[in-house]
Amino acid sequence: MRRTMVAGNWKMHGSLQTNAELLRALVAAPRATCEVVVCTPFPYLAQAQQLLAGSAVALGAQDCSMHEHGAYTGEVAVGMLTEFGCSHVIVGHSERRAYHAETDAAVAAKAQRALAAGMTPIVCVGETLQQRERGETEAVIGLQLDATLHLLGERLPELVLAYEPVWAIGTGRTATPEQAQQVHAFIRERARHRGADADAVRVLYGGSVKPDNAAELFAQPDIDGGLIGGASLKAADFLAIAGAA
Ligand code: 13P
Repeated sequence: MRRTMVAGNWKMHGSLQTNAELLRALVAAPRATCEVVVCTPFPYLAQAQQLLAGSAVALGAQDCSMHEHGAYTGEVAVGMLTEFGCSHVIVGHSERRAYHAETDAAVAAKAQRALAAGMTPIVCVGETLQQRERGETEAVIGLQLDATLHLLGERLPELVLAYEPVWAIGTGRTATPEQAQQVHAFIRERARHRGADADAVRVLYGGSVKPDNAAELFAQPDIDGGLIGGASLKAADFLAIAGAA
């Protein structure tokens, strides 16, 4: 049985004051049955670590370096993240792939680095609208996944995968539960074919998940929770989504 997860990706949002309000509300809420994670910007990890201490809400980062340490200006090492209580890290988000030219190989290397530090990488994949319209969804996602499957196949159950169609991110346009389920089933099959224990792998859906569409998405057999952007910035919405998982 896979435990569902709801992870909030704050992206480049927040301030000391709004974070404190949001995190205090999450901590004060009744404990969710799913695993709940918040992924804050790097500078706020210390604040979040302090405010989440002793709670059931886990802390994550939004990226990490593929290197252990060294002359990599601007990069953040997994060892630094664990010092601030991070148990999770998002890698390969489509915004990083698009704006920072992250390759599939780099994403896989980051996931490997995170695992080596005892963290859970949340590895993101997803197609653009153009790719979907050209009928390339499975080909694109298959390639994005393969680098990670090749490098980490047997450790796949320790990872979390996230399907985030680029056209559904921040657009208010959600994949229908059927569209999402189809891709999630494909992802699981791909993992199975590459020799991984696919039934143990959690696959989250991300892209305009809101309190009013979460339950329907999470009811799909291969959707094991969500990676939440905009709605994770509002405590009531994020808690409602966690309640649906
Ligand atoms: P939205 O929920 O704002 O569409 O963002 C999804 C996302 O990119 C989470 O990583």
